[in-house]
Amino acid sequence: MSYSMHTHTCGELRESNIGEEVTLTGWVWHRRDHGGLIFVDLRDRAGVTQLEFDPEVCDEATFHEAETIRSEWPIMVSGTVRERPEGQNNDKLATGAIEVYVTKIVVLNTSKTPPFQIEDHVDTAEDVRLRYRYLDLRRPKMTSNLKLRSDFTFALREAFHGSDFMEVETPSLFKSTPEGARDFLVPSRMQPGHFYALPQSPQLLKELLMVGGVERYYQVAKCFRDEDLRKDRQPEFTQVDVEMSFVTQDDVMGALEHVLAEAFGKMGVKLELPLRRIEYWDAMDTYGTDKPDTRYGMELHDVTPIFSASKFKLFATAAATEGQFVKAINAKGAGKWPRARIDRLADVAAEFGAKGLAYIAFREDGSVTSPIVKFFSDEEMAALRAEMDVEPGDLVMFAVESRLHADEILGGMRNHMANELELPREGHDFLWVVNFPLFHWDEDRKCLDSEHQPFTQPNEDQIDLLDTDPLAIGSHTYDFVMDGYEAGGGGMRIHNAKLQEKVLEKLGFTPERAQAQFGFLMNALEFGAPPMGGFALGLDRVCMLLAGADNIREVMAFPKTASGSDLMSAAPSEVTGAQLKEVSLRLL
Ligand code: AMO
Repeated sequence: MSYSMHTHTCGELRESNIGEEVTLTGWVWHRRDHGGLIFVDLRDRAGVTQLEFDPEVCDEATFHEAETIRSEWPIMVSGTVRERPEGQNNDKLATGAIEVYVTKIVVLNTSKTPPFQIEDHVDTAEDVRLRYRYLDLRRPKMTSNLKLRSDFTFALREAFHGSDFMEVETPSLFKSTPEGARDFLVPSRMQPGHFYALPQSPQLLKELLMVGGVERYYQVAKCFRDEDLRKDRQPEFTQVDVEMSFVTQDDVMGALEHVLAEAFGKMGVKLELPLRRIEYWDAMDTYGTDKPDTRYGMELHDVTPIFSASKFKLFATAAATEGQFVKAINAKGAGKWPRARIDRLADVAAEFGAKGLAYIAFREDGSVTSPIVKFFSDEEMAALRAEMDVEPGDLVMFAVESRLHADEILGGMRNHMANELELPREGHDFLWVVNFPLFHWDEDRKCLDSEHQPFTQPNEDQIDLLDTDPLAIGSHTYDFVMDGYEAGGGGMRIHNAKLQEKVLEKLGFTPERAQAQFGFLMNALEFGAPPMGGFALGLDRVCMLLAGADNIREVMAFPKTASGSDLMSAAPSEVTGAQLKEVSLRLL
């Protein structure tokens, strides 16, 4: 039983159905009048079937109805499946060998003319698509993106369930759970002046579940972060959140690889296990990012030693200064670009924090174009050519900075140049980046900040450094990187209350503030908290990559715009004075 008005979907009928009487439902996609015959492409979420109305076959009323129907009207038709006439097969359609010869039509509703064509390859402004999202979702690509998301979520659930994980729901009305963004606050009516925070992730709650003995937890969890939006960020998004107890880091990573390989496998994507692991600093030094796309090279090279005695002051001074580096990448092919285009790259580098961009373009005729090359000796040039594997047509770009800044600038340029040069990136690229520093220095706030989050377990043999050299401490952390995106992240947790207190203190929490915000967690840790670790997969991001889309909005049914609006419902919107009063709020 299909429990539906139709006998078949619009994507289902094949030559084997020829001769059958069928009933289909769907929307009128295209309608063509052809010398007394009417052809309609009928579309539903499963596909498209061609209908033919022939006045010789259907009665006059049916034919007349067929003349009146318009695009996007929902209809129900009954008729006979038949082979398409010789030469009229459509190889692009799964149902392209047949058509339905209609004998009866029921118009289920009419429709206004849609504000845009319901087609995949029509360039409709995104704000219009979002305002009429329910029409946008009818486009075959959007329908298939939602289906892909549903299939992948189901595959993950099956894999976690099959590996003995328990799905537990955690509340959305909770206390601030910091993950580095601002909170969305919800005022309490019953307790004036008090607020819930929507969780940035279920991090604290899942740790409490481990204290509660759940042992292997997962959840398809909504998370809320008030931060600036990008193509891979939404204020409300979904994590497949995981936590395990009585485990080591290798146990967690092993269990995750197993589950991920199973779920991705069901999507036709093979993960080669064990996945490659790259240490955080190796990823930064080699690719200039903690989420490298390793489907192409253009790796960063440390060329500082080549220039230790250089006449070029900038390079020589850096070489003589502790902590300063001269690093370079070679963008093969960009050395052919006109000088003006190369000079414009300085603006791009500035976006990644560079003060300028030193470069050498090696022209195909053997000459070089460069504002700095005149300072270099033959030996320096020879060493540079050898280190950077220089060929005619190459563009070598330099960053002169501290290690992290040089890495970040060239990492940004590497990504930019790969896009500009349209480097091929076929298939998917999976890896772990592991062992992030516990802290980084927040220059704006002039204090330590967590690299992952405040509950991360420091490397045991470096805990002593908390008081002397906290920035040198590594941590039990791992990010799951897919095609150059941070597709997931996790780590082992502190399960000792004293250590948690100490780390919060290093992050600038006074004991009182730590108690007020995280006292419930530290209390729980004192009741026999087991060793634990976990992970969260960014479901939207992974679905975006699986769907070959370039924005997570393409795999979300009702996403927000860059300014955080829902254009369809006009949220966020004003509320009445009475509503504000109810929650004891007055607007400034
Ligand atoms: P993290 O903050 O790294 O870790 O988040 C996990 C993953 O969630 C995805 N993600 C987002 N996707 C869309 N829009 C956003 N605004 C957004 N922010 C994050 C990313 C990211 O890798 N509690 C920890 C996990 C853990 O340690 O177990 C956490 O939330 O793909």
